[in-house]
Amino acid sequence: MIKKGIILSGGKGTRMSPLTKAVNKQLLPIYDKPLIYYPLSILMLAKIKDILIVVNKGQLEQYKKVLPDGKNLGIKITYAEQDKPRGLPDAFLIGEHFIKKDNVALILGDNFFYGQYLTEKLKNSIKLKKGAKVFLHRVNKPERYGVAKVKKNKIISIIEKPKKFVSDLAITGLYFFDNKVVQYAKKLKPSQRGEIEITDLLNTYKKNKKLSVDFIGRGGAWLDTGSINDYYKTINFVSAIENRQGFKIACLEEISLLNKWITKKHILKAIKFYGKCEYSTYLKKLITK
Ligand code: TTP
Repeated sequence: MIKKGIILSGGKGTRMSPLTKAVNKQLLPIYDKPLIYYPLSILMLAKIKDILIVVNKGQLEQYKKVLPDGKNLGIKITYAEQDKPRGLPDAFLIGEHFIKKDNVALILGDNFFYGQYLTEKLKNSIKLKKGAKVFLHRVNKPERYGVAKVKKNKIISIIEKPKKFVSDLAITGLYFFDNKVVQYAKKLKPSQRGEIEITDLLNTYKKNKKLSVDFIGRGGAWLDTGSINDYYKTINFVSAIENRQGFKIACLEEISLLNKWITKKHILKAIKFYGKCEYSTYLKKLITK
């Protein structure tokens, strides 16, 4: 069982400058809550309670204002700082002492997932004992992503931002790894752009025939909120669903309550913490139904 998860929540956020000059991307709003709530909710839906959030150097205090230590959610949140964006697998080097001898999930702080069957798929994924698992999703512009060529549910090759069409199945920012990931990450060499690359890490697993795959599927959404356009698409998506259905996406307290990690008392405390706002009104409804 995977019981630990890392959220990679640093990065330069260059594509969203000047919005990201003073505020980290993951603290920007996606409709009614900060972006970081969404990837955190995914780990919580996977029943992962021990979470490391990697943030940029100097940004710890800002994060702790909104997500202190997780006690309010019945989970454990620890933080680590990354002094510069060295690449996604740096999560496993920074997180070595957090991971210890366990297996671990990784989610990118700017990735948004939503859809039917997602919780089931997540609960299945944490059963991983050996190897690695990635989630794929069909996209219109594969040249922007790391893509995987798949045959009979097996990954044949992984290509980073392909210039020519090879596949339209993008590798999303949600991964599950066995404990070997730390040792493999240590061996990676920086690419031409000066970063250690997740595709190289996944290729190590592929070479050892230990890379498995699942699909978000047509009924699900995966949005990478890293560009201004995609950022606003995500806001529109959340706003449309929440206003139409009356449910919130990524209400962390609601997930904890459903998982029985917290009680009514915690919700009352959360209402006090947030103050008079629409999010608190929603929380109040959860315990008065
Ligand atoms: P990217 O989208 O690759 O990078 P970025 O967020 O800095 O944006 P830009 O390309 O516009 O400069 O990163 C994906 C996610 O991973 C994002 O949430 C930031 C995070 N990240 C880190 O925390 N540390 C890193 O070393 C890298 C490369 C990314």
